[in-house]
Amino acid sequence: MKVIFLGPPGSGKGTQAKMVSERLGIPQVSTGDMLRSAVREGTPMGLKAKALMDSGALVADEVVVGIVQERLVKVDCEPGFILDGFPRTVPQADALQACLGGLNKNLDAVISLEVDSDAVVERITGRRTCRDCGKMFHVRFDPPAQEDICDVCGGELYLRDDDQEATIRKRLMVYAEQTAPLIAYYQQSGLVSAIDGMQGIAQVQDQILVAMGRK
Ligand code: AP5
Ligand code: MG
Repeated sequence: MKVIFLGPPGSGKGTQAKMVSERLGIPQVSTGDMLRSAVREGTPMGLKAKALMDSGALVADEVVVGIVQERLVKVDCEPGFILDGFPRTVPQADALQACLGGLNKNLDAVISLEVDSDAVVERITGRRTCRDCGKMFHVRFDPPAQEDICDVCGGELYLRDDDQEATIRKRLMVYAEQTAPLIAYYQQSGLVSAIDGMQGIAQVQDQILVAMGRK
């Protein structure tokens, strides 16, 4: 199963991708997570990306296309993958088509998560992410058993550098201008399932699995 999770910041792409990944045994390929790893490692690409990410702007297409191309040829992507946060522009979607064509693969589905802008701000400002395993929590909607400690691995929970309200508003604008057009792009090939992302995490999960033909 080769699927794209599309949606504005805070729509639940990462939360849902992790759950589906565990359930179906296919990897979550998150460009945001890969870029944050590069930032942590202090690579030249990571240092350049950090300023853009902290401002809410997108990282250059050729950089993200390069990291996704390297990732999709890895053996664990053979049975399928969940693209979380990629593609985000029409040139990225074109590059993905070319890359999949070269691998003799086709996309199976595009899950479009729909949420209100105000809910996004509340979700993201309350999000806490584990530094060690990347699991996401929410101080109100999905709290950890112990404040600031990951339930899964005991790691420290932190607030992402780009999770300030002004940056979130900028990310929402960037989404509307550069990423939302991808819904029409993929609708042409009949791949899009729109999911109401305002429901609870478990209900959203159920609807995604139904849309993917896995429930
Ligand atoms: P990225 O890391 O992809 O961030 P994003 O798209 O802004 O989305 P988020 O990760 O903030 O939200 P999410 O949809 O994953 O929601 P989550 O599940 O965490 O990208 C960051 C930056 O990297 C970009 O701004 C850009 O600079 C760069 N970048 C990345 N990819 C790029 C690309 N392809 N091209 C160029 N640049 C790129 O949920 C949020 C919170 O809500 C959590 O606390 C969660 O617990 C809670 N929650 C989830 N679902 C629900 C629910 N149903 N009800 C209540 N709470 C919920
Ligand atoms: Mg995410």
